[in-house]
Amino acid sequence: PQTQPLAGIKLMLTAGPTREALDPVRFISNHSSGKMGFALAHAAARLGAEVTLVSGPVALATPTGVTRIDVESAAQMHAAVMQDIARQHIFIACAAVADYAPKTVAEHKIKKTQSDAMVIELTKNPDIVADVAARENKPFTVGFAAETRDLEQYARDKLNRKKLDMIAANNVAAAGQGFNSDSNALTVLWPTGKTELPLAGKSELAILLLTLIAEKYHDTHRA
Ligand code: PMT
Repeated sequence: PQTQPLAGIKLMLTAGPTREALDPVRFISNHSSGKMGFALAHAAARLGAEVTLVSGPVALATPTGVTRIDVESAAQMHAAVMQDIARQHIFIACAAVADYAPKTVAEHKIKKTQSDAMVIELTKNPDIVADVAARENKPFTVGFAAETRDLEQYARDKLNRKKLDMIAANNVAAAGQGFNSDSNALTVLWPTGKTELPLAGKSELAILLLTLIAEKYHDTHRA
């Protein structure tokens, strides 16, 4: 039916930030609140999907009817996603995953020294959405792109490089949208087209984006 375009669909998404530990009391992270991803999880459940939400550390309540798996680091998020991805029809990567993590995690709190400088060596994290899209029987895979300039160009590059079915790009330098805001605006790209979802509350935007995802998903599975 029209109102439940995701009925019978298993949908997994990632949300929130990751935390990459330096020592037992410190970590590297970012300003993601989880609001966009949780709004998508809520909307997907309303549209009929069976929703699994893999979330970094956030201060949000789990939307009704959604199965939530809590993780901290990018490595843990990667493992949680891979564990259950085989049975998913749609995957949406909304989490702000750290691209790099400290190469070593100190067993004890790092001490202040005489030196005025300190160097932290980082190593690349696994790319969760790219690994999902590289699978043989991959789900319909949607990424996000957080950009501060040349939004469409960088997003189109991520769509192609990570072999995604769709990408939702947001300008995270503009006031009143992006990280930790209640509103957002998205430029949505897919291999053969694009559309603009203008500034709106994240709940409203989530319904619009999922309606578009459902349409494209059903297009690719009709033939
Ligand atoms: O959580 P909020 O406060 O509501 O803010 C929402 C948001 C701004 C975080 C969200 O709308 C958003 O843009 N999420 C993606 C943030 C991001 O990390 O973008 P990116 O351009 O660095 O990454 C591109 C894509 O690859 C994303 O789908 C990301 O989830 C994915 N990725 C990145 C690195 C990695 N190691 N694994 C990944 O899966």
